[in-house]
Amino acid sequence: MSTPTKDSPKKVTTRTLLKKKQDGQPITMLTGYDYATAVALDKSGIDAILVGDSLGMVVLGHPTTLPVTMDDMISHCKAVSRGASTPLLIGDMPFMSFQVSVQEAVRNAGRFLKEAGMDAVKLEGGRDRAEAVRAIVSAGIPVMGHLGLTPQSVHQMGGFRAQAKSVEAAQALIEDALALEEAGAFSIVLESIPARLAGLVSERLRIPTIGIGAGVGCDGQVLVVHDMLGLFDRFTPRFVKKYADLHGEMGRAFGEYIKEVEAGVFPAEEHSVDVSDEVWSALLEALEASEHAAGD
Ligand code: KIV
Repeated sequence: MSTPTKDSPKKVTTRTLLKKKQDGQPITMLTGYDYATAVALDKSGIDAILVGDSLGMVVLGHPTTLPVTMDDMISHCKAVSRGASTPLLIGDMPFMSFQVSVQEAVRNAGRFLKEAGMDAVKLEGGRDRAEAVRAIVSAGIPVMGHLGLTPQSVHQMGGFRAQAKSVEAAQALIEDALALEEAGAFSIVLESIPARLAGLVSERLRIPTIGIGAGVGCDGQVLVVHDMLGLFDRFTPRFVKKYADLHGEMGRAFGEYIKEVEAGVFPAEEHSVDVSDEVWSALLEALEASEHAAGD
């Protein structure tokens, strides 16, 4: 992590996010998985970086987030914490790292702070995870909840589809949100649910909601950085706005590089290292002398 100086921007904490909600200021969050992106996000003034288990899909190329391991997460969280010091850093607990037992959930949550430089963890689920959330919070670890489209339950949901569209499902989501708040969560991600419902949940909660595909009524927004940069080519969810086309830009740059290498245009003089004429003449003389000696 870069060492903060007296001129560094103030570290964002869970209290900062709560204050932003109270003041009606939108919270900004993006995912990040590597050092270079973390440095750019740190400079951008973003409030929070989520090292999401979405890295399983957009970085590691898996079809879902299910294969992501604790070791994958810890490694990427370490890289992000080396690059970003001001935003709140949140590590996503991967599938099966918090579901088996509350004890395992606390131990794994602890690794994000102890080994990987995170400030908080996120986990998917509602009432059924309240006990784990309470235990992690009581160990001194801030927890962000995640409701709606919870990708770790993709098979139970029958695919990556919008959630809470019936009266019963919407009521269940409201109860889940209240249970997470009651268990001590500092914030909740609402993914792919009707905008009106997300607005209502945000009004009913004291803690901030962070929406993704959940409309403008949330207290903040998050996107997967590879989606918003146009870096992930497999598919783009409907709720994503592409702020750049880095996949296209990469294709253009790779093509130009290949052409220039094949044409002998790259590397040019400015990309090459030279030695002084004096050293060069001495080297040639030495080589000639040793070749002579070998020929004798
Ligand atoms: O894993 C992730 O990136 C997430 C966000 C989509 C909220 O959970």
